[in-house]
Amino acid sequence: MYWCVTLLNVLSGFIICSADINREKALRLMGETPLIDGHNDLPWQMRQLFNNELEKMDLNTLEKTHTNIPKIKTGRLSAQFWAAYVPCESQYKDAVRQTVEQIDVVHRLCRLYPNDLMFATSSDDILSAFQQNKTASLIGVEGGHSIDSSPGTLRMFYNLGVRYLTLTHSCNTPWADNWLVDTGKDTSENNGLSGFGKELIREMNRLGMLIDLAHVSEKVMNLALELSIAPVIFSHSSAYEVCKSKRNVPDDILRKVAEKKGIVMVNFYNDYVTCQKTANLSNVADHFDHIKKVAGHEIIGFGGDYDGVSRVPEGLEDVSKYPDLVAELLRRGWTDTEVKAALGDNLLRVFREVEKVRDSMNTTKPYEVPIPYADVVNPCRTMYGYPPQGNAGSMINLGLHLPVVTLLLHGTILWLF
Ligand SMILES: *[C@@H]1O[C@H](CO)[C@@H](O)[C@H](O)[C@H]1NC(C)=O
Ligand SMILES: *[C@@H]1O[C@H](CO)[C@@H](O)[C@H](O)[C@H]1NC(C)=O
Ligand SMILES: [Zn+2]
Repeated sequence: MYWCVTLLNVLSGFIICSADINREKALRLMGETPLIDGHNDLPWQMRQLFNNELEKMDLNTLEKTHTNIPKIKTGRLSAQFWAAYVPCESQYKDAVRQTVEQIDVVHRLCRLYPNDLMFATSSDDILSAFQQNKTASLIGVEGGHSIDSSPGTLRMFYNLGVRYLTLTHSCNTPWADNWLVDTGKDTSENNGLSGFGKELIREMNRLGMLIDLAHVSEKVMNLALELSIAPVIFSHSSAYEVCKSKRNVPDDILRKVAEKKGIVMVNFYNDYVTCQKTANLSNVADHFDHIKKVAGHEIIGFGGDYDGVSRVPEGLEDVSKYPDLVAELLRRGWTDTEVKAALGDNLLRVFREVEKVRDSMNTTKPYEVPIPYADVVNPCRTMYGYPPQGNAGSMINLGLHLPVVTLLLHGTILWLF
C-alpha cells in the first residue's frame, strides 16, 4: 500500500496498484478460509471425453476442461462438490447405473491424484483437506431421477459418500416438479412435491443429505423450505431479480433461505448471470451484491457450474479465476467477514447444521414405504414386492382402479376356496 502511493502517484498507476492490493488480500483471505464451490461437472466431462477411462487423461495437463490441477491450485479451490450428473434422458432407463459410475469417477480421481484431491464426506473433512493443502472432494447427485424413486437407493448413495441430492434436474420425477414447470415448457405432475416426495425430504434430514433446490420449481422451493428441519442449499443458482431466468432464485425465496440459515451458491453460467450469451466477472459480482443486499452475506456461496456449461463470463474463464472475483468483492467494499462467509464459512455452517440434525434424528426409523406403484408404472420397472395385482402387463390399463381389482380378486379367491 505504502509503496503504491509513493512510487506510483499518477491516477492510472494507483488504480492498477489498488487492484493488486485487493488481489493480494483475496489470496490472504483464501489462505485463512477454504473456498468451497457447490457444483462442478468435471465427472461428466470424464464421461464425455474419455468414457470414464481416467487412464486416458492426465488432470495435470488436461486443457479441454475448465478444471485441471494447475487451475485448481491457482484458483485456490479448497473444496468442491463434484456433480454425479446423468441426463434426464436416462430416467426410467439406466440412470441409477450411470449415476453410480459417476460416483465411481470421483472415488477414482481421488485415488489417482492423492496429493491434490482428498475424498471428503463431512464438514470436518473439508477443514482437514484445507490444512493439508488438498481439494476436499465431495459428491452431489444432480437430479432426483438418479434415485429412480427409491429410498433405498438414496440411502446407499449416502453410503457411497454422496452428500447432496438436487431434487430434480430439468425434468419432473414421479415425486417432484422441475423449474421448467415455471417456464411453461413442462407441466406440473406433483403439485410441487408428492406425498412420497415430502417423505424424502424428511429422509434426507435423517440421513444428513443436503437438500439442493437448484433446478426445482418455485413450489418445490417453498415446500422444501417449509418441510425441511435442516437448512437447504442452492448448489448453483443466481439471483432472479438480476437475471430473470427461472433457474435463479427470487427475492422472497432468498429471504426464506436466510430465515432457514441456508445458502445460495452463485452460478457463473452466462445465461443465468445476464440472461444473455455474454457476461463478465463484474456481472457475477452484481449477483453477490444483490443477494447480500436482499438477504444478507450469510446465505451466499460460490457455485460456478464449471465444466457443466458452454459459456462462462469474461474474467472467470476457468477455476483459476476465483481470486479475481474475490478481489472484485473486496473492491466493492465487502468486509473480511463477508468475504470469508461467502468463501466457505456459510457452507460449513449449513453442513454442520445438517450433520447436527442427522445426529438428533438417530432414533428416527428409515423411511421404508415404497412409492405407490401407480406413480412409477413404466416398461422398464418390474413390480416385485408390491401386492399381487394380476398381470403386470395390464398394469397401465388398471391405473387407479387397482384397489377395486384387488378387492374383486380377494372376493373370487374366498369364494373359490
Ligand atoms: C499450498 O499450496 C500453495 C498453492 O499452490 C503453495 O504455494 C503452498 O506452498 C502450499 N503449502 C503447503 C504447506 O504445502
Ligand atoms: C461488464 O459488462 C457490463 C455490461 O453488462 C459493462 O457495463 C461493464 O463495463 C463490463 N465490465 C468489464 C470490466 O468489462
Ligand atoms: Zn445444473
